[in-house]
Amino acid sequence: MIEMKNVYFSYNGKEALSNISFKMQEEFVAIMGPNGSGKTTLIKLIMGLLEPEKGEIKVFGEEPKKVMEYIGYMPQRDAIARHFPIRVRDIVLMGIHKKKFYARKDIEKARETLKAVGLDLWNELFSELSGGMQQRVLFARALVKEPRLIILDEPFNAVDLPSREKMLEILKEKRKEGIPIVVVVHNINPILHEIDKVLLLNRRMIAYGNPKEALNEQNLKKAYGSDVQIIVCDEGYCHPLIGDTHA
Ligand SMILES: Nc1ncnc2c1ncn2[C@@H]1O[C@H](COP(=O)(O)OP(=O)(O)O)[C@@H](O)[C@H]1O
Ligand SMILES: [Mg+2]
Repeated sequence: MIEMKNVYFSYNGKEALSNISFKMQEEFVAIMGPNGSGKTTLIKLIMGLLEPEKGEIKVFGEEPKKVMEYIGYMPQRDAIARHFPIRVRDIVLMGIHKKKFYARKDIEKARETLKAVGLDLWNELFSELSGGMQQRVLFARALVKEPRLIILDEPFNAVDLPSREKMLEILKEKRKEGIPIVVVVHNINPILHEIDKVLLLNRRMIAYGNPKEALNEQNLKKAYGSDVQIIVCDEGYCHPLIGDTHA
């Protein structure tokens, strides 16, 4: 499904990612690591928005650029102009990728998707919504074309608890339908028990595998530094207290 082999990427010669190799199937995978560890860069490579300097990336067996249209993507919150005067419906319709006009079925699909994420909105201005509602609108935009792969960059940031639960419920349904999901998270706790695998990143891949094995104290210290505070929960998972450290 997604396969990376020895991927290297730098911004103007400054290494952002090196030696990244992993394979994922129709799974729910979380990418975690400190700020600046390359998480957003990694998903932009998967989407074909950036190209690797070295190594190989295949998505559905193809070059990422060729399958971009099958991917439902939700960018990181700070990458969005939140005060731009645009209406909810126009944001969601953007997810359908039509150039000139939208058919009635597109409009219906957009309305339906907004309802599915728990929003009874249409003509409202995006800029006037709460942070949680804005995130849900962007989530609807990622889902509206019924993507074959879902990629979300820190979708739960600035999201209230009911919104987060609604989003997670939908992700679990998608997972059941066999849609692969990649989610970058700042805080792993809310999804720890839902994910199949975690990719622990700090410019290099520190661990990739099921969370019980990948999230041990040694790996977390490698990713977050030796003074990271680690919590071990009842089921034996380890995770950092919060992900708020810098690479
Ligand atoms: N457009 C860019 N130009 C130059 N450097 C960048 C750019 N985007 C990200 N970087 C740098 O690359 C590194 C990884 O960034 P990023 O992938 O955004 O990390 P994360 O999402 O884990 O916080 C950081 O050091 C960041 O400053
Ligand atoms: Mg990021």
